[in-house]
Amino acid sequence: MKQTKFILSEKEMPTHWYNIQADLPKPLPPELHPGTKEPTILPPPLFASALRDQESSKERYIEIPEEVQDIYHTWRPTILYRAHRLEKALDTPAKIFYKYEGTSQGGSHKPNTAVAQAYYAKQDGIKRFATETGAGQWGSALSMACAFFGLECKVYMVKVSYNQKPYRRILMETWGSKCVASPSEDTEIGRKILAENPDSPGSLGIAISEAIEDAFGRDDSYYSIGSVINCVLLHQTIIGLETKKQLEIADAYPDIIVGCVGGGSNFAGLYLPFVKDKIEGKKPNLRIINVEPTACPTMTKGPYAWDFGDNAGMAPIVKMYTLGHGFIPPKIHAGGLRYHGMAPIICHLHKLGFVEAQAVPQMATFKSGIQFARTEGIVSAPEPNHAIKVVIDEALACKESGESKTILLAHSGHGHFDLAAYDEYLSGRLEDYEYPKELVEKALDQLPKVDYVEA
Ligand SMILES: Cc1ncc(COP(=O)(O)O)c(C=O)c1O
Repeated sequence: MKQTKFILSEKEMPTHWYNIQADLPKPLPPELHPGTKEPTILPPPLFASALRDQESSKERYIEIPEEVQDIYHTWRPTILYRAHRLEKALDTPAKIFYKYEGTSQGGSHKPNTAVAQAYYAKQDGIKRFATETGAGQWGSALSMACAFFGLECKVYMVKVSYNQKPYRRILMETWGSKCVASPSEDTEIGRKILAENPDSPGSLGIAISEAIEDAFGRDDSYYSIGSVINCVLLHQTIIGLETKKQLEIADAYPDIIVGCVGGGSNFAGLYLPFVKDKIEGKKPNLRIINVEPTACPTMTKGPYAWDFGDNAGMAPIVKMYTLGHGFIPPKIHAGGLRYHGMAPIICHLHKLGFVEAQAVPQMATFKSGIQFARTEGIVSAPEPNHAIKVVIDEALACKESGESKTILLAHSGHGHFDLAAYDEYLSGRLEDYEYPKELVEKALDQLPKVDYVEA
């Protein structure tokens, strides 16, 4: 009998997160203070002290607090699937596995860090969070985590998504959060942007600035971010640590790992424990493909440079691939893949040659997502559809070459709140968009001037 699901019990769930900083052959460039441009670590009034420690820690394994583990058990360990039905439809000798994060209550990987961040805020005696959300997944995850820990939560939701996805807003409100469209009238930066452009569709960079301003102005609040920074990637490694155990049960190890990247947290969460094997020379041929939209080609077209994490220059400056912090993304459906930058850990690994990147256009991603839905049954969020497209390409390449490679897909969430996007695709109203090279070049003028020299 062929096995389809690889399942761990609650007792088998890893009890520690994996910290790649212990194993990097060259240390990460530091974060720089947005004002002084000197090295800093997550500004203290905005983040829990435990997160600040984790951000720069070199400890290889960091214990997951027991209360966080207990909450993880409400949906974790998540299942690793073998995609037998997709393999058959593609008539490929490749073996396709996918780690599915869509069974969390919020529908994605985001609660893995939301619960940890809410826990540490509660420990510090904080009462409230301000945060941004792009597609609404992060806002939903933090709203649920805040409900579990009795915290208030204010979510600045990128306006274009706020209008496209009213059910995400309702979900956040059901968990007790207050959600506003960003740019909003509630902050100085929001009012300034609206005065200049009342029709601004918003951007993740703007929403981050609003949330930081909000949290900065109150001493009962922390700011929370759902991707990009080191400690968020650390919390997401629970995905990869579980997957490694599950692949052992399946007696398999991937030749190729594929996932979508917005800020990079779901995919790095899956692959960092595997990158360790590559760094140690145990798996030199392992390929790790970060997939992004052609409409937001951060890693494939952006320069590797110092840039602000947000639109207004309030967040730390980090070394990353970037389209410029003023980037206003086109209205594509993969809302969670529209950030101007990328997690510094991912950029560093790319620079060191351990991972690669590829951009795909949105029409092809929906076509692949629909093939996945019709074979595996899962209607995926538009974000993981980007990864599914590349998995299908690689599986078809195996068909061509006759190789039986093992392909591992990071499946970050379901698309039950994204059906309007599927409707647009199915009724022929969706288009491709390629972000022009000239705009990338123009954005370079806005990069902050940094004197800091790396050792
Ligand atoms: C389902 C899903 N996948 C992926 C992403 C991209 O974020 P990240 O690259 O941090 O995983 C998002 C972000 O909103 C998301 O909702």
